[in-house]
Amino acid sequence: MPAPLRIAVLASGRGSNLAALLAAREAGSLPVEFAGVFSDRAACGALSIARDAGVPALALSPRDHFDRLAFDEALFAAVEAVQPALIVCAGYMRIIEAVVVERFEGRMINIHPSLLPAYQGLRTHERVLRAGDRVHGASVHFVSAELDAGAVIAQARIAVGDGDTPESLARRLLPHEHRLLAACVGLFARRRVAPTPFGVALDGALLQEPLRLADDGTLRDAAGGRA
Ligand code: GRF
Repeated sequence: MPAPLRIAVLASGRGSNLAALLAAREAGSLPVEFAGVFSDRAACGALSIARDAGVPALALSPRDHFDRLAFDEALFAAVEAVQPALIVCAGYMRIIEAVVVERFEGRMINIHPSLLPAYQGLRTHERVLRAGDRVHGASVHFVSAELDAGAVIAQARIAVGDGDTPESLARRLLPHEHRLLAACVGLFARRRVAPTPFGVALDGALLQEPLRLADDGTLRDAAGGRA
């Protein structure tokens, strides 16, 4: 059994994805060690969740820094100081400067509420409804310098119903996001996933398409086999 993976979590909001990771660790299904939780918002729920769980938590305010780069340099210096093997952006709502992202490429992931490459950026639920899509979902991907454009590791899908609103889609998707993120972090904790110049490798073999979250919470490959 490898040593627990040291992870740092970045979050800006209520922190339900962070809570899901903490719960999975508590349940014994996620062999990770929380090195720290970092935020750009001092009053966010994620920081309280971290502190309640005894995880070191730090917020820096963008207003206290000269520009975006100065803020990112300060925040990521603090992140680097706790020596995480993986940085998990879980509802972190700021764009990170490319020079900083590049320093962490291959060891930073993000959860995004759409089936990437569709709907990069904000207001994904609204845009899915406006387009009349019948399927929506969430993606966990490597963070690269271009926003929401890094290689996708795995996705969760939900059907869009006739009566759905942006709020109902967000609410219905959220529990899938939680399972998806925990499952993906689990792949890293078990040292099974790695970035390559050609895409994501799982157990040393290039994924032809992102893994999919199945109803039982496991990740499946394109052929439906358990990842
Ligand atoms: C999630 O829906 C995530 O996909 C999006 O922001 C939300 C964060 O939720 N980018 P929480 O703060 O983890 O509850």
